[in-house]
Amino acid sequence: AALKTYRFDVQVKNVSRLCHSKPIVTVNGMFPGPTVYAREGDTLLVNVTNHAQYNMSIHWHGLKQYRNGWADGPAYITQCPIKTGHSYIYNITITGQRGTLWWHAHISWLRATVYGAIVILPKQGTGFPFPQPYKEANIVLGEWWNNDVEEVVKQGNKLGLPPNMSDAHTINGKPGPLFPCSEKHTYALEVEQGKTYLLRIINAALNDELFFAIAGHNLTVVEIDAVYTKQFTSQAILIAPGQTTNVLVQANQAPGRYFMAARPFMDAPVSVDNKTATGILQYKGIPNNAQPVLPQLPALNNTAFALSFNSKLRSLNTAQFPASVPLKVDRHLFYTIGLGINRCTTCLNGTQLTASLNNITFVMPQIGLLQAHYFNTKGVFTTDFPDRPLTPFNYTGVPLTANLGTKLGTRLSKLAFNSTVELVLQDTNLLTVESHPFHLHGYNFFVVGTGVGNFDPKKDPEKYNLVDPPERNTIGVPTGGWVAIRFRADNPGVWFMHCHLELHTSWGLKTAFVVENGKDSDHSILPPPTDLPPC
Ligand code: C2O
Repeated sequence: AALKTYRFDVQVKNVSRLCHSKPIVTVNGMFPGPTVYAREGDTLLVNVTNHAQYNMSIHWHGLKQYRNGWADGPAYITQCPIKTGHSYIYNITITGQRGTLWWHAHISWLRATVYGAIVILPKQGTGFPFPQPYKEANIVLGEWWNNDVEEVVKQGNKLGLPPNMSDAHTINGKPGPLFPCSEKHTYALEVEQGKTYLLRIINAALNDELFFAIAGHNLTVVEIDAVYTKQFTSQAILIAPGQTTNVLVQANQAPGRYFMAARPFMDAPVSVDNKTATGILQYKGIPNNAQPVLPQLPALNNTAFALSFNSKLRSLNTAQFPASVPLKVDRHLFYTIGLGINRCTTCLNGTQLTASLNNITFVMPQIGLLQAHYFNTKGVFTTDFPDRPLTPFNYTGVPLTANLGTKLGTRLSKLAFNSTVELVLQDTNLLTVESHPFHLHGYNFFVVGTGVGNFDPKKDPEKYNLVDPPERNTIGVPTGGWVAIRFRADNPGVWFMHCHLELHTSWGLKTAFVVENGKDSDHSILPPPTDLPPC
């Protein structure tokens, strides 16, 4: 195991896309930011210095940070922000994880431009559970706004309405030639005929689940969220914000130029898509002016494709990579996901769109929850988050105004150390129809079941996959449907859980778990680092 140091200088830089130039927040002046490379077992010291006029914090999405939430990053959950002119060293030990993850700003909407890949290679001498690819490449999908994103958010909060959505999707920060002035902002991957490539695909978009495909080439899925899967081949993949998917691609077509493309999956009714990002798979020796072929992507609202794609994901579950699914459950949780309307004193028309779990809209605290927990500071949060909705209702029925007003609170759920948890997330379909990618910090979980309509606590568990369910850190809760996840609460700390659509997170679609310490100091939260940013 090695000790690796990285310097992250957060700085504003002018970047031009879609014929506009504007200042954006970057790490080291790069967009997307630098890739962090490591091996399983390594320790990373990332020294983040904030030179920008915004508060900053960086989250290492999918890294478990065992007993060490201090390095997790979500602002006001595990740390206070790194203020302008200040630094913080994230001290991260990578245990038992290898694969593709990513890092991003975890404060306001700054992750719009502050993000990058994390590539964790297997331990020296250990290969992949598939033939070694010839080469590999990162495909980081994102969004581009012509306007200043922080201004867009403020505007939205003032109006109490959704802010403007982005102007383009991007592949490695580039929208591709379907957009004006973007010929030079096109990502190209050069391949050699007959070789196999590993693509590490990351969805860093703020608000869109995406389909991704390459014209004429099948994608073989081998890993999701840094966990190996059973292989399967698909013409396109579906990837939600927060998720990562590794695929193998064989350059086995007639040498030429082929478009790769990413565009949203929205089962909310939408008619147009003018935001498709394209890049190019370019066979070696083919002239740059050859006209590329566009891939067939599933239609914007192809829910059937989405459900079928997700149903093919399975853990590898071999002796070397076992799926340790909890078979016995100590604690059953049932959270309803709702989008609704609340009163708002600072909004222009007195109401605002809001989001909730079990009808509770999460209110961000003023100091970090992990500090409050560790130092036993009273009055910052409560641990009375309900295990199920207080009043049962017809989740997928006609919207009732009674369901729309939500309670506000910084209410967490307390989990006993090493207890096994089953959490069913039920989309309630009350106001808009949308699937929600839920992300849990500090853990991977097993997705033991999913379905459309209302979860049936009697019948649905009989159909659970307890053998080789996919293991991941972010899962799309289907529109008007449910997902059941299981995990063992063996990582003490305070761990955020939220919808990875930034819009919904900012409306309050979030909560956190307090996982208690184990019996001895080896199973307890580590002491905080001395440079932890003060509030
Ligand atoms: Cu990638 Cu809390 O997020």
